[in-house]
Amino acid sequence: MSNLNALIEALPKAELHLHLEGSLEPEQLMEFAARNGVDIPFKTLEEVRAAYEFSNLQDFLDIYYQGMSVLQTEADFHDLTDAYLQRVAADNVRHVEVFFDPQGHTDRGIPFDVPIKGILRALDAAEAKYGITYRLIMCFLRHLSEEDAFETWEQAQPWLSKIHGIGLDSSENGHPPSKFTRIYEAARKAGLKLVAHAGEEGPPSYVYEALDDLKIDRIDHGNRSLEDDALVARIKEAGLTLTVCPLSNLSLCVVDDLKDHPMKRMLELGLKATINSDDPAYFGGYMNENYRQTAEAVGLTREEIITIAKNGFTGSFLSPEEQARHLAEIDRIASAH
Ligand code: ADE
Ligand code: ZN
Repeated sequence: MSNLNALIEALPKAELHLHLEGSLEPEQLMEFAARNGVDIPFKTLEEVRAAYEFSNLQDFLDIYYQGMSVLQTEADFHDLTDAYLQRVAADNVRHVEVFFDPQGHTDRGIPFDVPIKGILRALDAAEAKYGITYRLIMCFLRHLSEEDAFETWEQAQPWLSKIHGIGLDSSENGHPPSKFTRIYEAARKAGLKLVAHAGEEGPPSYVYEALDDLKIDRIDHGNRSLEDDALVARIKEAGLTLTVCPLSNLSLCVVDDLKDHPMKRMLELGLKATINSDDPAYFGGYMNENYRQTAEAVGLTREEIITIAKNGFTGSFLSPEEQARHLAEIDRIASAH
């Protein structure tokens, strides 16, 4: 194993951009479909894998929502979340801030309480079981209406002490952040953290809207911010973290080749970029695989890899004391490598 790969494996890491529904591996999809009697258009694992070829975000989302249909019971959501935690524990991930898409479930008749109960049961056990702490972020589907979002917000009220933040995901183009200004205002008033997907496929103006209208604490993706020097300067000045997802960007053709990925450029520009897996079951790799392939493709240095790992903790919603504990551990591991 190369020295850099050994370092990547050994470093404590935080994952800040992960859709739990996007961690549904083909094996689990088949298992849940069978145990719940759900019809899926695939007979073999090979057929499922063959469907995981995308040319853009919408292509992927169509398969992603179809895949979700096998998630029916609290046990399914627990098992899905637990399997994800087990996988990232093996990658030395120590903290996760994970998304879930309640509307992807309530829209097909699954009550709000079913996914969140299952997810929380797995997350609440994660520290004792895997040494992993968590924050839970509820995403709104941006292709749905503001009214729909408010309905979901109402359903979430009994759970707000367990939901740490809100996010915005799904089809970006045609659904600018400004559509959700009032939902973000309500969540801010309730004391929640605010993140939003912006600048994945959408233009820099969507990133401006996420900053100005939604007043977000962190930017999910943000790649297209680099097209606008003033925006880069603003993100840097504000010290905002970008949750970047290299293998997702490759799968969804945000970049044509991983060698063209802007991760290194983001760091050189002084942006707080992190590496995350987004929807690892669909995009070919969990945390360490994202680190490894990116490091090799764009030539990350040892120092840059350490910086990215540290950015994961400083960009998290952990307390300063908890962040400091993880940063000290990174320094300890790095000095041994
Ligand atoms: N939902 C799950 N993954 C997503 C992504 N990468 N962009 C937008 N919505 C998503
Ligand atoms: Zn995402």
